[in-house]
Amino acid sequence: MKVCIIGNGAREHALSWKYSESTRISGLHIVPGNGGTADLGINHPEINPLDFPAVVELCRKEKIELVFVGPEIPLAAGISDALTKAGIAVIGPGKEAAQLEGSKEYSKNFMLKHKIPTAAAETFTDMQKFESYIKKQKKKIVIKKSGLAAGKGVLESDDHEKILNFASPFFKEGDSVLVEEFLTGYEISVFVLTDGKSYKILPYCADFKKAGEGDTGLNTGGMGAVCPVPFIHKDLQEDIEKNIVQRTIEGLNKDNLDYKGVIYIGLMITESGPKVLEYNVRFGDPEAQVLLPLIKSDFANLSEAIVKQRLDEFQLQVSDESALCVVIAAEGYPGPYKKGIKTSSMGQFRTEDALIFHASTTRDNDNNILTGGGRCFSAVGFGNNLLNASRKAYKAAESVEFDGAWFRSDIGKKFFIES
Ligand code: AMP
Ligand code: GLY
Repeated sequence: MKVCIIGNGAREHALSWKYSESTRISGLHIVPGNGGTADLGINHPEINPLDFPAVVELCRKEKIELVFVGPEIPLAAGISDALTKAGIAVIGPGKEAAQLEGSKEYSKNFMLKHKIPTAAAETFTDMQKFESYIKKQKKKIVIKKSGLAAGKGVLESDDHEKILNFASPFFKEGDSVLVEEFLTGYEISVFVLTDGKSYKILPYCADFKKAGEGDTGLNTGGMGAVCPVPFIHKDLQEDIEKNIVQRTIEGLNKDNLDYKGVIYIGLMITESGPKVLEYNVRFGDPEAQVLLPLIKSDFANLSEAIVKQRLDEFQLQVSDESALCVVIAAEGYPGPYKKGIKTSSMGQFRTEDALIFHASTTRDNDNNILTGGGRCFSAVGFGNNLLNASRKAYKAAESVEFDGAWFRSDIGKKFFIES
């Protein structure tokens, strides 16, 4: 099987590696790819993933049978519809269903319509009405830009002035703004594979979004992740499956939304049960880096089951190990940072109990690896529990060296007691 992966992050490096492990893969193309995926397949830096005719042309020329779309932007722009129309199988929903991530207003309406537990919310399109509503609020509330915001569209606050300053640019650009009830509890991420009819729930993940130790400081795309999350008891799992996952799949069917791909459900586990914070229509990054290595089933077979709607017959095998990811970032991130920094040591891509995935890296003429983003590498460790996985992950993280490289030293710690 010839596969094409869309994206250039560590998530797409992990996907490329997962496909390359399958004995059924006869060709792997990555659009555009990064310095790490170059070792596993053919990168196409010349193709913009948003240039759908160019992606379709590549697929036809290379006889690609399956495309896996990593990031949300091409999905929201309709890449899956373009590929489907051209007769190419694709993992990732079409433009309409991608609004579950692309529009918080759409996804909130979907949740309410299908009785999926979520925070109470009001949607505003008019700044003045928003302002008078905000002025009446006494408690901490959550303000959300409706459209895609790369993790920068949410504010939790009780400071009216701060809220108005935060929301005003969104109204100016014509977007709507949601005001949500502030939920308390702990967060987990649930990844569901679906072929549109049936589904498989993958092991629960948690990511670490804040830049600073102890979950302090600015929000980032994610500075680390763990999988599985310990202490998710059976009753809670049943609650999540029955009241959230099944209702979501039924909702997709009732709304005639064609969905073959990954549904990422951000959950807050509150005292009154799990509630949906958000849907994403793809794997998380860095969650994919911990999740994918724990899938034992052949990934080409699993992909085929999704696109041929045979997921119900598929026996998904998952490792009972734990995985922990530490993201290695550039100096300054999540503020301004430099790109193109040469790595002086890259460690080993794969050892018995660790993997190092690249994000947006490139290679110079001497084959040195250059950084290309704020979050530069994902070091992933494996072990019989999270503590042991963390030791392997940090050892791998230490082996990557470039000027200004930094990472959080406490990823996953809240889930284990260090001896
Ligand atoms: P979202 O993009 O909607 O997932 O929001 C980003 C982050 O903001 C979440 O991961 C939560 O930490 C926080 N958040 C979002 N909605 C709420 C809410 N209703 N109550 C409390 N925290 C929230
Ligand atoms: N880790 C958060 C995300 O991928 O959106």
